[in-house]
Amino acid sequence: MQNHSDISTRVEQLLNKMTLEEKLGQLMQLAANDPKSLELLETYHVGSYLHVSPKVAEHLQLRAAKTRLGIPLIFGSDAIHGHCFENNTVVFPTQLAMACTWNKNLVRKMGEITAYEMRQCLLHWAFSPVLCVARDPRWGRCGETFGEDAWLCGELAAELMLGLQGDGSQEYVEPNHVLACAKHFVAYGEAIGARDAYEAGVTKRRLLETFLPPFEKLIKTHKLASLMVAYQAIDGVACSASSWLLNDICRDEWGFEGIVLTDWNNIGALHTIQNRASSYKEASKIGFESGNDVFMATPEAFEKTLELVTEGALDEGIIHRSAYRVLYRKFALGLFDQEAKLTEGWQDKLGAPDSWHYSLQASRQSLVLLKNTADLLPLDKCATNNILLVGPNADDVFAQLGDWSFGSKQALHTKDTLHKADTVNLKTALSLHCEAQALGFRYIKGADCIDSNFDEIALAREAAKSSDLIIACVGDTLDQHGEFHDRSDLTLSGKQQALLEAMKASGKTLIVVLLCSKPHAIPWVKDNADAVICAFNPGPKGGQAIKELVFGEISPEGRLPISFPYSTGQLPVYYNKYKGWHAFHSPQTEGQERYIDAPEAPLFAFGEGLSYTTIEYSELKLKNAALPHGQDLEFTVDIKNTGLRAGVEVVQVYLHDVYSSVTTPEKNLKAFERVELDASESKTILFTLPFDCLSLVNEALERVVEPGEFELMVGASSKDEDLLKVSFEVS
Ligand code: GLC
Repeated sequence: MQNHSDISTRVEQLLNKMTLEEKLGQLMQLAANDPKSLELLETYHVGSYLHVSPKVAEHLQLRAAKTRLGIPLIFGSDAIHGHCFENNTVVFPTQLAMACTWNKNLVRKMGEITAYEMRQCLLHWAFSPVLCVARDPRWGRCGETFGEDAWLCGELAAELMLGLQGDGSQEYVEPNHVLACAKHFVAYGEAIGARDAYEAGVTKRRLLETFLPPFEKLIKTHKLASLMVAYQAIDGVACSASSWLLNDICRDEWGFEGIVLTDWNNIGALHTIQNRASSYKEASKIGFESGNDVFMATPEAFEKTLELVTEGALDEGIIHRSAYRVLYRKFALGLFDQEAKLTEGWQDKLGAPDSWHYSLQASRQSLVLLKNTADLLPLDKCATNNILLVGPNADDVFAQLGDWSFGSKQALHTKDTLHKADTVNLKTALSLHCEAQALGFRYIKGADCIDSNFDEIALAREAAKSSDLIIACVGDTLDQHGEFHDRSDLTLSGKQQALLEAMKASGKTLIVVLLCSKPHAIPWVKDNADAVICAFNPGPKGGQAIKELVFGEISPEGRLPISFPYSTGQLPVYYNKYKGWHAFHSPQTEGQERYIDAPEAPLFAFGEGLSYTTIEYSELKLKNAALPHGQDLEFTVDIKNTGLRAGVEVVQVYLHDVYSSVTTPEKNLKAFERVELDASESKTILFTLPFDCLSLVNEALERVVEPGEFELMVGASSKDEDLLKVSFEVS
């Protein structure tokens, strides 16, 4: 296996042979789905393409091999929840759904399977994990994140990165692993009004305290191979023009040695959108001097940068250093040491049954039971004879698979492949079940997510008369979320709400399955459904998993990684909020921090989720009620399964710095443990938190732990009523 000096020597030797044009070409990443970009390979000495199909990848590598130095190409792809842009691959539930599992091992497994299948398709660079924090669900890209808590996002992203990259060594990426690319750097989800790529109003202090630490963790502890720079500006400075972010923080403070890749045409946008540069030439100078190594989809920069270096307006050393980073990764991937050809029977290696097993596991564990009146679920087999299924998302593969998958706008070369063969929707799963159990079954779509004129409510109302149970599968579909698709209204679209009310009016038992990409404002559903199941884009096996949950073949294990708002206007409702809203002065709000026309609490809270058993917490005990400065925080809590079925509990640990020099959230998640308990089983769970988890970033932008009182909270969700509390002092 090569070591660092071996690779470094090989890179330097190659660089010494390269012309300025050839070095600069390594810093251009172009889109393979644009024919003009493919023509530029030889003239611009292109080093990388994205969105490449296996056959095109093979063809492009052959062309690259015939160039003067035969430098192989590196191919990137948005493999966000599996390598979804190829036929016969394993698609997983989306990141937000994976976050509902709170299962680190499963997230890492998704990374491993994604990487393996990418390499079979001659791809080497996964534009994943997404480290964005989704604190406003109006944003189109919520489903792509691990939710609203930055710390949890960092924990799960680290697992996904390790699954993608392997053991995280810099010098050698195993043949079944790829480069990870953490994105989007940074605070892309903080755009004002949750408007995609719009100005983000975050301060440097909040960046240092909340949004940068997850990236720092992946870089410092796990050897992240690359990161992708966000589109937006922060406090007036475009991320791709921020030398503070890319040079001072990333390189100088964190010692990052990987590749800094821009998002799509960030450099062009400095000129055409953010008006930071008066020309592509000025934008190219700013882009390289600010610390971007590779420009995605800005071919204009090639000739402009050549001019800059030739005129002495840009130091050639910057180009040399960035080309070094790209070539280093190409050597580490072994691209110079193996012929880039599709192996015999490469397609047979995709979609292995064992891999699909993990996707099904993820679908099952991603489901969150939010309401279960009178323990309606799991359904008693004898109590149901005729099931009516309604709702558009019981039979919509686009809704079920979510963004960056087969139906997506980006999957141009596989748009025709909806992976139908592997997708089991709720309609199919339920009809097969009812057939096997000799139960009556009927499906009526009833309403459409997009088409407000679509109306089969009368038909559904008629069918309800002869049914004794109604399951309604509603939510959103692909055209309502993803990049460029933010929403101003999070209520159910089309005639879905009217359909639900008609079903309720039938007087029959009503189970609502919310199959969607993000939290919706559904107070009526919470009040009127007998049971509510949240299924964020649950993946190809999602329909099967939901059926299994309804009939008790599996138990619900999911917990929300993101809050549901009572109304769109109630946003933001993320759990780790600050105090100080004057609303508590108003007699109308009874001393609560809330709008006069909305409750204080979200509709469903971060960390919330029911199971088919009951778990009791007791005996929260600190090792030290007076914690010496610098010492780890150790404590235990007892949990007991007081129900009749085995279950999984996600024990959540929150901290609150009671008095601090800057405002701090009322609680912040700092640890969690996924615990399996048999009926009547008790366990004592030990936690040891590093002292640093008590820290904040003060006004002087220093990360410190301030002495004084802290509160430790442990329980089943972020809701106060679910938490045991104990105070302690830091000396
Ligand atoms: C997109 C996205 C980014 C993606 C890139 C390449 O616009 O912002 O997440 O990796 O372009 O598809």
